[in-house]
Amino acid sequence: MTTSGTSRTLLVANQKGGVGKSSIVSAVAGMVAAAGRRVLVVDADQQANVSSSDLGVEGDGGRGLSMALQFAQELEPIRNVRPNMDVIPGGPALAVVASVAATAGQTGIDLRANFDQTLNSLCATEGYELILIDSGPGDAPLLDALLGTARYLIVPTRDDDASLSGVELLALRYLRARQAGSVIELLGVVLFDTNPRATARNRDVFEQVNDLLEGSGADPFEAFIRSDRAAAVDLRTRHLTPLELVEAAESDQKSRLQRLRQKSKPGERLWSRDPSGLASDYQALTREILTRVTRAERQRVEGGVA
Ligand SMILES: Nc1ncnc2c1ncn2[C@@H]1O[C@H](COP(=O)(O)OP(=O)(O)O)[C@@H](O)[C@H]1O
Ligand SMILES: [Mg+2]
Repeated sequence: MTTSGTSRTLLVANQKGGVGKSSIVSAVAGMVAAAGRRVLVVDADQQANVSSSDLGVEGDGGRGLSMALQFAQELEPIRNVRPNMDVIPGGPALAVVASVAATAGQTGIDLRANFDQTLNSLCATEGYELILIDSGPGDAPLLDALLGTARYLIVPTRDDDASLSGVELLALRYLRARQAGSVIELLGVVLFDTNPRATARNRDVFEQVNDLLEGSGADPFEAFIRSDRAAAVDLRTRHLTPLELVEAAESDQKSRLQRLRQKSKPGERLWSRDPSGLASDYQALTREILTRVTRAERQRVEGGVA
């Protein structure tokens, strides 16, 4: 299957914050890039968690992306932040987007059209295998522009009621975007920060998600992301992808004895001893995402839709 341009643009969104959007974007991008496939991360969040914290990219505070949204100014990614991974950073400059959207009636500025055009022209020449867009909480006009541009949507959630109602809100926004002509398809909902042993509870949440998604044609992902607070702290503070953390933890273990003898300073040690379970969750999720994307592409070809 050949892919081109922005046909594999995946938006990760939930209007609720703290549900794993940025962690998932960083981890999945890291998995795809490590497998030798080129990936672009677009950080469309004012907080810039995925670009500055998770991936450790020193960015432009979101100015480039903001100019692209407002004036269709060409997007210039930061290249090779990892082998095969480019990043368009987020940051506070994205705050103006809301007021630009509010005056769109007078100015004629079309955020969605501008983003679509600039992302397309970048991707036409770069040949990314996957484009992952992270989004912030509550920034409705920007979120609508992203929903109008992306091809696929992934909604992460924790299992509490507030996060699940975020899924419901987003499902409504998604349906509105489709009614307005967007080609976006809901790829699935992914459970984040769950206890893998709480099987009855997880089944119950799965059913709730299924109810929320009724009519959208999507299932929850079978893969879920287990709770691992120690690994989460290491990932963010050290700007590592899960695969990189696994490597770091292995060498940390090797030198542990040595450092015990040398009395290492606090802060040098990793919190996590074995982040491999978490990394394998992300690996399973990445595989499932790619399988669903391929299936959707095949269905479009069979249905005769480009
Ligand atoms: N596997 C995990 N288990 C528990 N907490 C996690 C895990 N992964 C990440 N976190 C923490 O969850 C919080 C929210 O994650 P984040 O990806 O920033 O969500 P969002 O982008 O939706 O706001 C962060 O503090 C992060 O460190
Ligand atoms: Mg985030």
